Amino acid sequence: MSWEDKIRKVVPYVAGEQPVGKVIKLNTNEFPYPPSPMVATRIYDMAQDEIDASDNMLRKYPNMDADKLVRAISQVYGIDYDKIFVGVGSDDVLAMAFLTYFNSDKPILFPDITYSFYDVWADVYRIPYEQKKLDEDFKIIKEDYLGGNCGGIVIPNPNAPTGVLEEVSFFEDIIKNNPDCIVIIDEAYIDFGGESALPLIDKYDNVVVVQTFSKSRALAGLRIGMAFANPKLIGYLKDVKFSVNSYTMNYPAIELGAVAVLDTEYFEKTVGMLIKTRENTKKELKKLGFKFADSKSNFVFASHESMKAKDIFLKLKERNIYVRHWDKPRIDNYLRISIGTDDEMKELINALKEILN
Ligand SMILES: Cc1ncc(COP(=O)(O)O)c(C=O)c1O
Repeated sequence: MSWEDKIRKVVPYVAGEQPVGKVIKLNTNEFPYPPSPMVATRIYDMAQDEIDASDNMLRKYPNMDADKLVRAISQVYGIDYDKIFVGVGSDDVLAMAFLTYFNSDKPILFPDITYSFYDVWADVYRIPYEQKKLDEDFKIIKEDYLGGNCGGIVIPNPNAPTGVLEEVSFFEDIIKNNPDCIVIIDEAYIDFGGESALPLIDKYDNVVVVQTFSKSRALAGLRIGMAFANPKLIGYLKDVKFSVNSYTMNYPAIELGAVAVLDTEYFEKTVGMLIKTRENTKKELKKLGFKFADSKSNFVFASHESMKAKDIFLKLKERNIYVRHWDKPRIDNYLRISIGTDDEMKELINALKEILN
């Protein structure tokens, strides 16, 4: 056996492009407004106090539990400290959750059209999985998840890249019917109009809710994600995390995340602005002949009645407007368009009018 045969080989996750220069970037679902101004103020204050910034914050290891950040999240969400786990973006939280909770020979279940990192984590950790087909309207077929004999379940709500939202009762049925496996609800986009399943963590011992600061809190670059569950499940998750790398949350992320989450007024104002822009964008896209399932996220997953998605994607790119397109079965005629500012969406609609004529 050569060394090459002994290597763990995986097909990595492919993220959306991060183009440089002046472009309209509607391809990776980042929030279009800046983070809370409290973040900039805290950066400024940290930079002013050199000793604090370079010595206390950077010379020493950060607090393993990201204590200050977890306390702030606990205060804003009204959830006990020991029911919260934080990681380096929800990708880190989900990766650790897969490693912790999905440790059996039975396949885990997730939709066939969903966040394209799930099968990558399953492959890298050698977790068997089954992808359950969405129906023609991109709805999740609940009955597919009621068998009660799987290795675990992970579903985003709203789903990505479809944007389709399910009710909390939908998840409650799945959780109730699977008392012997962990159900992870990935709520990366829940703040854009959905009802969170967070109350279920106090009702059932087998549910984990994952959220992120990357979307509605405009901090994709800072990398903060969190999991909420009962203290026993959070304890298992920490054990695995601390067995891989104890100091993942760096000091600036802990400090800046804490001030960002406490600014609830700014959060509500800017999320409201985004929702308004999304609803206007839906109307404009419909007028231009696009079809899409209703989205409750910060993107719309749309196909056009006559022009191929890939052609529109390339023509938008020529105009420096980036949206997301996948060359994958079932979704290759769709574009995922992140919601930007009103001005960005106006430019998008004008470009689409030209392209479609
Ligand atoms: C459904 C879903 N979950 C999780 C993530 C990961 O986000 P982050 O690692 O930035 O928190 C994304 C990112 O786009 C996502 O779409």
